[in-house]
Amino acid sequence: MTAPDPKAIHDAAALLRAGQPVAFPTETVYGLGADATNPDAVLAIYETKGRPRFNPLIVHCADLAVAETLATFSPLARRLAESFWPGPLSLVLPLRPGHGLADIATAGLDTVALRVPDHAVALDLLRATGRPLAAPSANPSGKLSPTTADQVRRGFGGIVPVLDGGPCRSGVESTIVTIAGDRIIQLRAGALSREEIEARLGIAVEQVAENAEISAPGMLLSHYAPNAHMRLDTAPRPGEAFLAFGAIPAFDGPMRNLSESADLHEAARNLFSMLHELDALGATTIAVSPIPETGLGEAINDRLRRAAAPRG
Ligand code: TXA
Ligand code: MG
Repeated sequence: MTAPDPKAIHDAAALLRAGQPVAFPTETVYGLGADATNPDAVLAIYETKGRPRFNPLIVHCADLAVAETLATFSPLARRLAESFWPGPLSLVLPLRPGHGLADIATAGLDTVALRVPDHAVALDLLRATGRPLAAPSANPSGKLSPTTADQVRRGFGGIVPVLDGGPCRSGVESTIVTIAGDRIIQLRAGALSREEIEARLGIAVEQVAENAEISAPGMLLSHYAPNAHMRLDTAPRPGEAFLAFGAIPAFDGPMRNLSESADLHEAARNLFSMLHELDALGATTIAVSPIPETGLGEAINDRLRRAAAPRG
């Protein structure tokens, strides 16, 4: 990981405090950050991304103490935060009176998604800014999430300042959960697997029902889309590009292997970058190997299904 450069962080914090968006690295993907208490700054995020206004943002906090000024934590919510923050877990919790967040950051809901990112640059930036930062993934709405500063620059045509922290460690977005009494409900599979939460807390993590009342409004089916069409299959056809996983037979065309040793962490880290690369090679169709539906495989498959879904 690139070491945090104090001057770059100081400059980025000044821009953020002045109401401008700045992209910054987290352990999952790059975020397009803005002062979550400033409605104009948050509006600039929606405009830069072309993001529908009904889709609320994750608010990033320097630590649990800051998060507790924004939302009401039940004992179970606090246990989750203490177990996994800083880290790739976003908690959807009831807003606390006097929270000070811009309504547009939560899209007018009475809940807010909060997380403390596990990345030295992000944490330094949050502390230097002294404000919670609303930050969706730093890509034009509906496109692939960026895991390098270069992908952010290319995605937005260079118009957004980017704090470079090197490539992201996890490579898929945070897991989003909400809490209903003593139940934990996963709204989005992500970089923290359900199994890890269950093992640490000894509580089952439920998957959100398709037609559930509570859901993450951003879970549009066609999402995370590369320019190429995607097809989930064990074997590529002639003329296609191939995104492989594990030991696979030789293939002549353009290809990347998410993990030759079938390691799901490595595959998650490589997922968006390799899709970006195959796109850049001009592939019109990408065939993708099946991935086991366990551990991080749940988040990877979720992203692949969305990338392969018909475009709306
Ligand atoms: O890893 C991540 O989570 C990255 C990095 C930058 O932290 N951020 C990210 O943000 O993936 P974004 O905006 O691409 O996804 C946020 C998701 C959306 O699906 C949104 O609908 C959901 O969080 N969300 C936000 N607030 C919510 C709320 N109050 N209730 C339900 N879902 C919410
Ligand atoms: Mg996103």
